[in-house]
Amino acid sequence: MASEREPIAVIGTGYVGLVTAAGFAELGSDVWCVDVDVDKVALLTHGEIPIYEPGLAECVGRNRGRMHFSNELAPALEHARLLFVAVGTPPTYSGDADLSAVHAVVDAIPRSDRHALVMKSTVPVGTGAAIRRILAQQGKPRFAYVSCPEFLKEGSAVEDFLAPDRVVVGDDGDWAGDAVVALYTPLDAPLVRTDIASAEMIKLAANAFLATKISFINEIANVCEETGADVLEVARGMGLDHRIGEHFLKPGIGFGGSCFPKDVSALKQLAGNSGYHFQLLTAVIEVNELQKRRVIGKLHKHLGSLVGKKIALLGLAFKPNTDDMREASSLVLAGRLQADGARVRAYDPIAEDAARELMVGVEFADCAQDAVLGADACIVVTEWPEFAELDWRAVAERMAGRLIVDGRNFLDPGVITAAGFTYEGIGR
Ligand SMILES: NC(=O)c1ccc[n+]([C@@H]2O[C@H](COP(=O)([O-])OP(=O)(O)OC[C@H]3O[C@@H](n4cnc5c(N)ncnc54)[C@H](O)[C@@H]3O)[C@@H](O)[C@H]2O)c1
Repeated sequence: MASEREPIAVIGTGYVGLVTAAGFAELGSDVWCVDVDVDKVALLTHGEIPIYEPGLAECVGRNRGRMHFSNELAPALEHARLLFVAVGTPPTYSGDADLSAVHAVVDAIPRSDRHALVMKSTVPVGTGAAIRRILAQQGKPRFAYVSCPEFLKEGSAVEDFLAPDRVVVGDDGDWAGDAVVALYTPLDAPLVRTDIASAEMIKLAANAFLATKISFINEIANVCEETGADVLEVARGMGLDHRIGEHFLKPGIGFGGSCFPKDVSALKQLAGNSGYHFQLLTAVIEVNELQKRRVIGKLHKHLGSLVGKKIALLGLAFKPNTDDMREASSLVLAGRLQADGARVRAYDPIAEDAARELMVGVEFADCAQDAVLGADACIVVTEWPEFAELDWRAVAERMAGRLIVDGRNFLDPGVITAAGFTYEGIGR
């Protein structure tokens, strides 16, 4: 049966692109997916999902008939007016966003008065204006442009796409903005329809604020450690104030992932490029970097020198329910441990393949009980649910030492101490 929903194209089928494509297909659109990665498109064409994201394989599976994959732009241009752009915008050496993939898309699109670029990638404020200037210079002034930033969280991306807190559409009030709004209408989410620059800033400001909240509670945790307060009690007491809210008040060993570090840095650089020194974000970044390293101090406190010590890392992905290792705290931690002379053995339920490429000199185990064998200390880096279910008495029998560092305050300290361990959390 022909779909009544507007067909769309999605350029870039990574975490955001593939989820966006599957989500719109679930809502009834035919989706023409384009990616430069030949292997990725081959996998997707054969029904395989290149990333781990709960519910994504099922969603793509349900909508296979509506999802089309190609390395070529032409079929997408033929079938769709709206070209959602979800290519990567990683940080450059200077901390600015690298927009080369976005510009490759802009350069590849033809002259047209019936198409629109819909920017899902996170880009600096002013990118939309710059792209429209470039389009005009390239003789494509009638190619419409919409900013539609994405707020999904890895680990619950499909759910987030289908039940967003809000949809942000930045445009000139033209047909393309209306068409994007119409696509999202069935989700019944609050809509913020605004100008392009404000839409771009909403995304950066939202991520910077969340990162600020994390660095704030991490600093409170560090002060709690010095003063005898329990940061979990403090966070609960703070979070019940609805002006503050309970979310993102979880102390730990720093934020990572593909978004927060790069978006905070991009906003700081964006401000700097326009002559404003965003002092708060400088501190947010610095606190986060130091937080990843504080765990080493906890190990020194209990073990003395780390030379020759065996340290088990449980969890490597930047957060649970994803295989994404971008900017994961585990990378810094493993590097610091090795630099201090420790031997690192690690386990992650999903992210091992991605981690192996990034963590030189680290041994990998097939399960948590294997990772802790002979370890002097064990650090829980990522709060995968299975670690809470571990038989910690069996862990104690397998380890050489008796130290558990809970980098996410995720374990029950009573269970850990009852198993014979010394428990070190964050800020308690
Ligand atoms: N990952 C997240 O949780 C998240 C959340 C919100 C927003 N974002 C933003 O969304 C954007 C994409 O992030 P991601 O995590 O999905 O990235 P990703 O690296 O997982 O995916 C990007 C994809 O784009 C493809 N690509 C690169 N150049 C291309 C081109 N010229 N034509 C077609 N395809 C091309 C790559 O091969 C890759 O498959 C970024 O700007 C990111 O900041 C990410």
